[in-house]
Amino acid sequence: MPRKIIIDTDPGQDDAVAILLALASPEEIEILGITAVAGNVPLALTARNARKVCEVAGRSDVKVYAGCDRPLAHTLVTAEHVHGKTGLDGPDLPEPQMPLQDQHGVDFIIETLRAEPPGTVTLCPLGPLTNIATALQKAPDIAEKVQEIVLMGGAYFEVGNITPAAEFNIYVDPEAAEIVFKSGIPIVVMPLDVTHKALVTAPRNEAFRSLGTHPGTVVAEWTDFFERFDKEKYGSAGAPLHDPTVIAYLIRPELFTGRHVNVEIETQSNLTRGMTVADWWRVTDRAPNAMFMGDLDADGFFALLTERIGRL
Ligand code: BDR
Ligand code: CA
Repeated sequence: MPRKIIIDTDPGQDDAVAILLALASPEEIEILGITAVAGNVPLALTARNARKVCEVAGRSDVKVYAGCDRPLAHTLVTAEHVHGKTGLDGPDLPEPQMPLQDQHGVDFIIETLRAEPPGTVTLCPLGPLTNIATALQKAPDIAEKVQEIVLMGGAYFEVGNITPAAEFNIYVDPEAAEIVFKSGIPIVVMPLDVTHKALVTAPRNEAFRSLGTHPGTVVAEWTDFFERFDKEKYGSAGAPLHDPTVIAYLIRPELFTGRHVNVEIETQSNLTRGMTVADWWRVTDRAPNAMFMGDLDADGFFALLTERIGRL
């Protein structure tokens, strides 16, 4: 039985690859819907980009909803410096033809979870946690319907990418992250510690391109665009595919290793706001609330990704 998921996302080239991976994996994954959130770029663009990605996969039947247009307590911080002005710079993609659903993304999450049996839906947040936290605040009863939240966000050994201490998704809406991490729902975290090892090196990029398909070429061109930022900043070998690690975990969890530890979110300090304070060394008696990943089998991850993109 495929696992039912809702993808909550702010595409973003790496979000886009994550969506394609999920669409290419119907045996393991059933996408109930995609909710867009403001993050890498404002909401109007993320909602548009999510639909563009579905159309790259020929899946205009997927339901895409627009959710929250700003974080719970702060003004929106965006990342055009990484993802480009549209959020999805790189290949020239047509305006999406498929409709955006009328329902608000948060209401879709609530209604969908309420209609499902307890512990059966996995939430996959790939951006700031505003939609998920808002849904949990509006309808606390939905928590028991969630099997697991598998999210990309945070960092421990890698520390920050948007400030010296904080990773982007958590930094944009730390109040939302705090609600999610305190929800009691089982959480799996893909932090920068993992995603900075998921690098699209030149041969891995070439493997996408050599698929010779439209989705393969688009993925290669997205990473061509996206890699310049990390190459300049970290001197790394290519673009980190942060968000696809979330979907890969649903398909092949054995590619990842981590620790079940306590993770708290810093919401107060001006210096470290948005930091994920992970008790990696278990030096406190705070109760573990998340499986915090630390490593991945990068070759296995890219083999899976390339094979699946090749199915589209
Ligand atoms: C995260 O921030 C965004 O720029 C990426 O899409 C990813 O979700 C990495 O910090
Ligand atoms: Ca993202």
